[in-house]
Amino acid sequence: TSSPEQEQFDRIIEQDSRIEPRDWMPDAYRKALTRQISQHAHSEIIGMQPEGNWISRAPSLKRKAILIAKVQDEAGHGLYLYSAAETLGTPRSVLNDQLLTGKAKYSSIFNYPARSWADVGAIGWLVDGAAIQNQVPLCRCSYGPYGRAMVRVCKEESFHQRQGWEILHSLANGTPAQKQMAQDAVNRFYGPALQMFGPPDGDSPNSQQSMQWKIKRFSNDELRQRFVDMIVPQAEALGLTLPDPDLRWNEERGHYDYGDLDWDEFKAVLSGNGPCNAQRMAHRIRAHEEGAWVREAAAAHARKQADVETK
Ligand code: 3HC
Repeated sequence: TSSPEQEQFDRIIEQDSRIEPRDWMPDAYRKALTRQISQHAHSEIIGMQPEGNWISRAPSLKRKAILIAKVQDEAGHGLYLYSAAETLGTPRSVLNDQLLTGKAKYSSIFNYPARSWADVGAIGWLVDGAAIQNQVPLCRCSYGPYGRAMVRVCKEESFHQRQGWEILHSLANGTPAQKQMAQDAVNRFYGPALQMFGPPDGDSPNSQQSMQWKIKRFSNDELRQRFVDMIVPQAEALGLTLPDPDLRWNEERGHYDYGDLDWDEFKAVLSGNGPCNAQRMAHRIRAHEEGAWVREAAAAHARKQADVETK
């Protein structure tokens, strides 16, 4: 028989209500959320790098201002999510160490390079588009702080996705060279963006438990399918093609069939052998070390404040 606390927890989950930081929760629930929320935060922070490289290369002041705002939003999403993760009891310094020592994952998509300005458009349209598809259901996650954080994040992500689509729209309607640059970016980001939703359901060890706890509301393949159904008409509106010869409307399914993704490449990226893994981690570690003086100064200031208060 389960304990009264477990029964109370099960009732809250059953009623689609919220588990809050001070509520009793199974250790495994706490661990699963700490894993997912911290890796989500790591993704936001690492995700600043591909686009950050293009801030000084943006083609106009307007594009530069928009990109700065977007990268700043991502930093904010990361800090928001580290705060949500900390409510589960693991200090941010420990979570950060897990990232810097390679123990923790971050979204595979950020281990791909942003080669041209069109990539900034493809990242906004496809990567932030996939992030929205994944994050909207997370607004109803059973863990209060995570679900509430997602509401704010999703609002900002829609601006990210819209500006990305608009960049591609300008390029696709520009010179033939610009249109080719946009098509090339979509060719490179389409497959990896679909893999942001995780491995196929049959190869997703966390999904079943995560769905029972109402953390994950839809399976990896369900959200991936919704995303494909959404971007096919958007690509048509852009006048760009998606690099998938097996993509076609399936009348009886009421969805688009799409081709197999490269899961060997996915596994290679997850095990650290993607195109940019080493560069992304080296950059993050350097930034962390260069920022040490800020942390020390803030800690010294806090001690001084504390001394003042105790006098
Ligand atoms: N990249 C890296 N790792 C991935 C991955 C991906 N695209 N997809 C799955 N994985 C990992 C999982 O973390 C898990 O490993 P772990 O147990 O060591 O953590 C393993 O592969 C098996 O996958 P599962 O499907 O069993 O794992 P989950 O149930 O956790 O599902 C997930 C994976 C869908 C990514 C889920 O964790 C999730 O929804 N996370 C929150 C969303 C998130 O992290 N999004 C990042 C998007 S980038 C972003 O938001 C920035 C935006 O502003 C551009």
